Amino acid sequence: MQDIVLVGSSGHAKVVIDIVEKAGRYRIAGLIDGFRTPGEETLGYPVLGGPSDLPALNARFDLKGALVAIGDNSVRARIAAEVAALCPQLPFVTAIHPAASVGNNVAIGAGTVVMAGAVVNPCCQVGRFCIVNTNASLDHDCVMEDYASLAPGVTTGGNCRIGSHAAVSIGAVLRHGITIGEHSVVGAGSLVLGPVDAFSIAYGTPARKIRDRQPGDKYL
Ligand SMILES: CC(C)(COP(=O)(O)OP(=O)(O)OC[C@H]1O[C@@H](n2cnc3c(N)ncnc32)[C@H](O)[C@@H]1OP(=O)(O)O)[C@@H](O)C(=O)NCCC(=O)NCCS
Repeated sequence: MQDIVLVGSSGHAKVVIDIVEKAGRYRIAGLIDGFRTPGEETLGYPVLGGPSDLPALNARFDLKGALVAIGDNSVRARIAAEVAALCPQLPFVTAIHPAASVGNNVAIGAGTVVMAGAVVNPCCQVGRFCIVNTNASLDHDCVMEDYASLAPGVTTGGNCRIGSHAAVSIGAVLRHGITIGEHSVVGAGSLVLGPVDAFSIAYGTPARKIRDRQPGDKYL
């Protein structure tokens, strides 16, 4: 097995650790988290240092990959860019739970995580650094742009498009052919029957735009 590091060590990272262990493709050398003391552990894996320690750690462990295990889309994008700048040769890997279902003609970008019970149906394109969370279902011919996320239990119809950095929150349902604009948030439990503008927060049944949203605003 090849050694990788996970960048992040919080609750989302625990789930990603579980996926990497169950998938059995990579061995986790340790965790990168600049806000914790090296040697502290999550699920038995030590914090090795912060992002600035990565070049030295890359040489020490002969790392074959990195996975950014951070749930917030904008923070994940920022940290992924930082890791790429520090270690340009270190590839980002994907983590797909063995109990996820990935259909034919599906493309899944580097750095993306697909969790237990998720369904990605045929002809979907899932970009880089996306999250398809526990029991989320992305139906045929959907597109998730880079850094987008589906929270647990989201259901989409076919031919939907989730814009870059957009977050569809827990349990939301999207009718077929729906477009969610970039950097937007669909609130928990929403029923989305029409397009959601970019840079906005929308929720409810049916979902309505509630307000504008700036990139990076908190939503979790
Ligand atoms: C969309 C979201 C960011 C809205 O946040 P917000 O606008 O700051 O909402 P607030 O908590 O300030 O609540 C404002 C009002 O909107 C209501 N509201 C908030 N989210 C709602 C939703 N998803 N559906 C219906 N009403 C909602 C609140 O009940 C509150 O109503 P009140 O004023 O009558 O009390 C948030 O509710 C949400 O859904 N976050 C996603 C969480 C998630 O999915 N986590 C799992 C990730 S793995």
